[in-house]
Amino acid sequence: MNDLYTRAQAAADHIRSRTSLAPTLGIILGSGLGAFAEQVADAVAIPYAEIPHFPQSTVQGHSGRLVLGTIGGVPVAVMQGRVHAYEGYPLSEVTFPMRVLGLLGIHSAIVTNAAGGIRTTLRPGELVVLADQINLTGTNAALGPNEPRFAVTPGFGQRFFDMSTAYAPHLRALAVAEAASQGFLLTEGVYLAVLGPSYETPAEIRAFRTLGADLVGMSTVHEVIIARHMGIKVLGLSLVTNMAAGVVNESIHHEEVMEIGRKAEQQFTALLTALIPKIATE
Ligand code: 6GU
Repeated sequence: MNDLYTRAQAAADHIRSRTSLAPTLGIILGSGLGAFAEQVADAVAIPYAEIPHFPQSTVQGHSGRLVLGTIGGVPVAVMQGRVHAYEGYPLSEVTFPMRVLGLLGIHSAIVTNAAGGIRTTLRPGELVVLADQINLTGTNAALGPNEPRFAVTPGFGQRFFDMSTAYAPHLRALAVAEAASQGFLLTEGVYLAVLGPSYETPAEIRAFRTLGADLVGMSTVHEVIIARHMGIKVLGLSLVTNMAAGVVNESIHHEEVMEIGRKAEQQFTALLTALIPKIATE
């Protein structure tokens, strides 16, 4: 098989053959948030199955298309659905789409997910902007030999790279301010990722709270690591779909995660639609 760089270039070439639009912003839609892709004007939707080497999700509610077009005049590439490590995909595949978006020339990414609430003041249906992350998956998407062509533009990044501003402070501030102007309180939180697919035990959630986590999920951290490797600025947003184990006296179901997503859709859509032109002019 070709090396990762060559595969990512082949995927990027295919996407370029389907549209002349050059995205400057990438958006990854998490569980229950896929409907946001309907906001894309002059959309060209490419099923993942048609893009060379693109991984395809096996989870219900992750439809699996890349939608290119504009939102508020900004050229965007929207991933409707992602794959997760718990499906059995190596992290090089999980983060392959972020590599491809980087090669297509995005300078910023909005990464979204459904998460469990650890901080007791959070409520199901609430949006949270990510301030930082804790990677507790025990692995790292940038493992392995570093791509020697890191120096080309856009390339894959240096061997060692900074994660001290994983989530761009000015994008976080922009999101909080936009929410306030829309009349809702958007708090910041630290996202902790586990591999899954089991949800956590109450003891694990207590431990994660002690570690400084506000939210728990099974995605995002590796995409953010790869985005930072490539120098892409990141805004992270979590939708709290349920409280994590032991926070309230209820068990956790995937259906509930999807239903909360549909309800939070309006607020999520209004926030993102307003933010996108502001992020693009940063
Ligand atoms: Cl409680 N845990 C994890 N790991 N992921 C989630 C979740 C909980 N709720 C939604 N996604």
